[in-house]
Parts: sequence; structure tokens; C-alpha cells
Amino acid sequence: MIRVFPDAEALSRAAAALFARAAQRAARLAGRFVVALAGGQTPRRAYEWLTRPECREAVPWEAVHVFWGDERCVPFEDPRSNAWLAHEALLQHVPIPSHQIHPIRCEGDPEEAAVRYEALLRAFFREAPPRFDLILLGLGEDGHTASLFPFHPAVTEQRRWVAAVLEADPPRVTLTLSILNQARRVVFLVTGARKAEILRAVWEGPFDPLRWPAQGVRPGPGRILWMVDAEAAAGLSQIW
Ligand code: 6PG
Repeated sequence: MIRVFPDAEALSRAAAALFARAAQRAARLAGRFVVALAGGQTPRRAYEWLTRPECREAVPWEAVHVFWGDERCVPFEDPRSNAWLAHEALLQHVPIPSHQIHPIRCEGDPEEAAVRYEALLRAFFREAPPRFDLILLGLGEDGHTASLFPFHPAVTEQRRWVAAVLEADPPRVTLTLSILNQARRVVFLVTGARKAEILRAVWEGPFDPLRWPAQGVRPGPGRILWMVDAEAAAGLSQIW
């Protein structure tokens, strides 16, 4: 459920190794590895580790299909773009077929972008349940994850897989809990002292996913792992 690493570098290296193992396993069992990347700054180092020979050569990139958990509605080249971050830190450095990279294109109307991305996911998963092999997530200091912000209607969305968050600046498009919780594996990456208080609240506070949407991520026993560093874990009364 939770693994504590001495620092962000050790965590990032372990996250890259976990990605490689999950990709190998999925490619062996299903012929493809379907992953949703996290945004924000925390995963950047893990993405960079995946470009290093020992990780890069361990991933069957021809079998990898990349999606995103959420996106900021800015142009692709904007440094705030999650797709840009992943491109820069990882995707331009590895031999993944470009047609297997599925960014959330949300220039223009975020609502339309959400509908388009849901249609893309439904076409991709066809009849099969929309089961990502791996979803990477971060944790915001207010308890948000992906772009599921506290008290936002997208948190309780049951029907749609993708929602627009117009109140954010810039607006966002996000996967909803209804698809996040169908994943084979969800891994949270959380580092730094500034996350200690919210990590304690999410882990040891009352169950209140509207207030702390990260609590709503519950794909089932054995399918969720929190990878945190010692600074972020400093507020926990015990390691579960
Ligand atoms: C985003 C993310 C968001 C992020 C958290 C943590 O687009 O911003 O998907 O959920 O994971 O805000 O961000 P940091 O890793 O930058 O602290």
C-alpha cells in the first residue's frame, strides 16, 4: 500500500523500474501495455530515469500505449502542459510508435476536449472494460489528484470517464474516478515536505473524498501503491 524511499531520486528510480516491470508483464500477457501518465513536477525524474539504458532497454516500447490522467488546457509547447513535460523528459528519447501516444488535446473548448478524449478511450478499449495496466498519479497540497479538485462535481462523476474542469486556471481535462478505479494498478508518486500534511490527512484523516479526492482512488485490494519519500511521510503516525 505504501513504500517510503529515503529521497525523491531513489523513489524516481524505483518508479521507473516498476514501470518497466509492468510493461514487460503486460506485453507478455496481453501484447500491449496501456499506461496513463501523471502530470505535475513529481514524475519528471521517474520519466528521465526511464530514458537511461538500464530502464530504456527493459521496456518493450513497441507495445506501449500512452495516455494521460489529466491535462492543462494550454498549447502543447507550453511548459505547463503535461504532454510537453512527458515529451521532453521521456517520450522524445524512447522508440515508442508515435501513433501510440494519445495526448489530451484541449486547446479550444475543454468540454469538447473531454468528450473527444472519452470517445478516443472508448474506441481504444472497445468492448473491453477500460482497464489501464498502470496509472501514475500525483497528490496536490489540497488533496487533489489528476485534476479532480476538492468539492468539484467531477469528483462524484459516475458515468463519464473524462470531465472538464473549467474553474481551474488554466482549465483542465481529467479522467474521473469511474475509470481510474478500474485500473489494474494505480501508483501515487509523492515527494517533499510540503506534501507531509496532506499525505497524513489523506491516509489518516476521515474518509472524505469530496474534500480529499485522492481518497476516492480505490481500484481494489492489491492494486494501489503509494510511493512516497521520507520528507512526505514525516507526518504519518505509522507506515501501513
Ligand atoms: C497536474 C497533475 C496534478 C499533480 C499534483 C501534484 O496536472 O498538475 O496531474 O494532479 O499530480 O498537482 O503536482 P506536483 O507533482 O507538481 O507537486
